[in-house]
Amino acid sequence: MDNFNFYAPTYFAFGKGKEAETGKLVKRFGGTKVLIHYGGGSVVRSGLLDRVKKSLDEEKIAYVELGGVKPNPRSGLVYEGIDLCRAEKVDFILAVGGGSAIDSAKAIAAGVVYDGDFWDFYEGKPVTAALPIGTVLTIAAAGSEGSPDSVITKEEGMVKRGASGEAYRPKFSVLNPELTQTLPAYQTACGITDIIAHLYERYLTNSKDVQVTDRMIEALILAMVEEAPKVIENPNDYEARANIMWGGMMAHNNSCGVGRSQDWSSHNIEHELSAEYDCAHGAGLAVTMPAVFTYNMNHDVMRFAQIAVRVWGCQMDFAHPERTAKAGIEALRSFLISIGMPKNFEELGAKEEDIEKLAHMACYGSENATGTVYGFVNLSQSDVENIYRLML
Ligand code: NZQ
Ligand code: ZN
Repeated sequence: MDNFNFYAPTYFAFGKGKEAETGKLVKRFGGTKVLIHYGGGSVVRSGLLDRVKKSLDEEKIAYVELGGVKPNPRSGLVYEGIDLCRAEKVDFILAVGGGSAIDSAKAIAAGVVYDGDFWDFYEGKPVTAALPIGTVLTIAAAGSEGSPDSVITKEEGMVKRGASGEAYRPKFSVLNPELTQTLPAYQTACGITDIIAHLYERYLTNSKDVQVTDRMIEALILAMVEEAPKVIENPNDYEARANIMWGGMMAHNNSCGVGRSQDWSSHNIEHELSAEYDCAHGAGLAVTMPAVFTYNMNHDVMRFAQIAVRVWGCQMDFAHPERTAKAGIEALRSFLISIGMPKNFEELGAKEEDIEKLAHMACYGSENATGTVYGFVNLSQSDVENIYRLML
């Protein structure tokens, strides 16, 4: 196991009706003037926004609002949010919604207290200071409610990049699984796919002797595979929603990723797809993961065989472990298709003629790019092109 530091101080309020505690939580973490930041309207339609405002009113906490965050959140609204917070002397950012609203809120929180362009953080500058952030989560997916990360798309050139730093960890997150019952089946499945990707990206490691985190990851993937069909079949299955919601948080606050190198090439290769075609991140990952894993399988056949046996119930073929490894990747692919995810470029809305451009963006698309997608296997532009071709 590698050395590590782990500090994940987010306070979680989990369960039915917990959004009523939002005002008290903002107060507890020092907020006196709040920006409520949300997406395209689901929280207005469900009545959640009104309930959150009521809980702020009850604590006599002032607020301003900024809605309109798009999935794959854009830089334009972040600049608008920064200006609004400065003008209104906001001292706490409250995201109400999914990963997109939360990530946009994080970018605003960092931008408000920074003299330069907030995009510097998305070009590699560590986030060391930000206004305090709270979240009321409405979809189990990105894990941003417990993570120190944020992903934003710069409108100029449609470049999608991530930023990280401890200042991005929310002070609190409200997780009420009931709030996810209004999700369409497709968004639910996209979220579950993202959760599984966060687990696989940690499982694919070059570190040795990481049994505890291996076993935690396997358990979480198994739970997602078990719970997913229940919520696709019955969106109101509270207990299944609850397990998926907590699983999504556990998958990405890094409790399963400490002490081990991690992959993240599927995410980096996918981000070009959601930036270019504006597809859902989870849908992009459903197509990307099997391709990346197939391409990288020979780097460590036994690791792929291990997850095939332990998670997907494949029979170990000791004479030909590569067959077991491959069977595990196929089982993942079939599972993702079974919950309604796309299986190839065409179903995703991606185009073969863009492959060279996409691979170039993945390898050279940011200022500090080196031409390599680093991860479990370090990939050159031609490797990335080959991976995109496996998705056709
Ligand atoms: O915008 P509204 O109207 O709220 O609708 C959203 C949106 O259309 C809808 N939705 C959310 N909760 C709902 C609901 N509809 C009905 N009922 C509800 N309860 O679902 C759609 C997707 O929402 P979004 O916030 O985009 O989903 P998600 O949580 O999957 O976030 C995706 C973003 O997170 C980034 C992705 O790249 C993508 O940009 N990621 C962030 C990470 C992080 N910060 O740690 C890690 C992830 O790997 C990921 O990259
Ligand atoms: Zn993700």
